[in-house]
Amino acid sequence: MKDITISDSILYIGADDKDIDLFESQYAVPNGVSYNSYVILDEKVAVMDTVDARRRDEWLSNLEQALAGRKVDYLIVSHMEPDHAANIQVLAEKYPEMKVVGNAKTFPMISQFFDIDLSGRSVVVKEGDTLSLGSHELAFVMAPMVHWPEVMVSYEKSEKILFSADGFGKFGALDTEEDWTCEARRYYFNIVGKYGAQVQSLLKKAAGLDIAMICPLHGPILKEDLGYYIGKYNTWSSYQPEDEGVLVAYASIHGNTRQAAIQMKGILEAKGAKKVAITDLSRDDMAEAVEDAFRYSKMVLAAATYDGGIFPCMEDFLHHLKSKNFQKRTVALMENGSWAPMAAKGMKGILGQMKEIAICDKVVSIKSAVKGADVAEMEALAGELLAK
Ligand SMILES: Cc1cc2nc3c(=O)[nH]c(=O)nc-3n(C[C@H](O)[C@H](O)[C@H](O)COP(=O)(O)O)c2cc1C
Ligand SMILES: [Fe+2]
Ligand SMILES: [Fe+2]
Repeated sequence: MKDITISDSILYIGADDKDIDLFESQYAVPNGVSYNSYVILDEKVAVMDTVDARRRDEWLSNLEQALAGRKVDYLIVSHMEPDHAANIQVLAEKYPEMKVVGNAKTFPMISQFFDIDLSGRSVVVKEGDTLSLGSHELAFVMAPMVHWPEVMVSYEKSEKILFSADGFGKFGALDTEEDWTCEARRYYFNIVGKYGAQVQSLLKKAAGLDIAMICPLHGPILKEDLGYYIGKYNTWSSYQPEDEGVLVAYASIHGNTRQAAIQMKGILEAKGAKKVAITDLSRDDMAEAVEDAFRYSKMVLAAATYDGGIFPCMEDFLHHLKSKNFQKRTVALMENGSWAPMAAKGMKGILGQMKEIAICDKVVSIKSAVKGADVAEMEALAGELLAK
């Protein structure tokens, strides 16, 4: 179990979810996910976000235990997505004197999601506003479109804690021991990836704060080496490649394009590519493929032609990349077709809708199965890609 102690007056009250099938009905989470929530105990008591409806009872019981008979004065709502906001109404009904703290964009969303009247109980904050709880004081920093319009983060001055909303979040329950970077990167690009510019502005504001600890809404509390995590976020949100390397992503019906992709991986390695990752777009995790596309500097796309177009899992992959604002990468294309190969043209068309994608001039076009002449073409394409 990850260390969830924060301090004597700030307690973790979140919950792990290890039996959810797909997070946001889309992402496989083999090690689950945590819905983090915190309570600050001072002269006034503040709860920092709620949790998903799936963990309501566990969260309420954690909260009750932390309160030891006290009441809640404030609920701070930093994000309205239901994995954090589902229990606003429950809490507001349980503590009728509790005030709800959000910004101008938060309250209309509360009215959309719930049938609740918060008049006289709403505290509307804006950039730089503060809320004193006694010896603790929260300062609110707006983070619009990271990745919803109402998102804000809170900085607690006395303990130098940044409550970072979904920022610095990670898939994986807190009782899992696994590398932070891989699952935080998969989370980042798939959930926040489109909004790099907005993350950059938040990072600029955060640079002015003296931060000792980051408390996100998913994944472990970050206490040490904060420069490492902030550095990763800076790389990711500026769309710079994190590692020199190549992702080979293939879409194959009967295995010939797969064979070509595997051969291409070997050729790239033989030519000195630092790292070559490969993914089967029909079978491997799509979110992991998206993550790797952003992670590496270069990519090879190999697809079978299907009904005059691209085999659908490749088309799906490219649409995912486009919607996540994929940019600033170099791409090599390989296609396969038994009578009229069209996949490369289709892939070029979608890549052309993205920013700053350099496509290799050479295209390898295979007719059904790889032959000696195709290998020579692949050698030439690998050379061009690595030189670009
Ligand atoms: C349902 C289906 C549709 C296909 N449509 C086309 C097509 O429009 N044009 C073409 O040249 N080949 C088409 N093909 C053939 C494949 O692109 C070709 O056989 C290629 O070898 C597939 O590579 P794979 O072994 O990696 O699946 C189609 C194959 C299937 C099964
Ligand atoms: Fe979210
Ligand atoms: Fe979330």
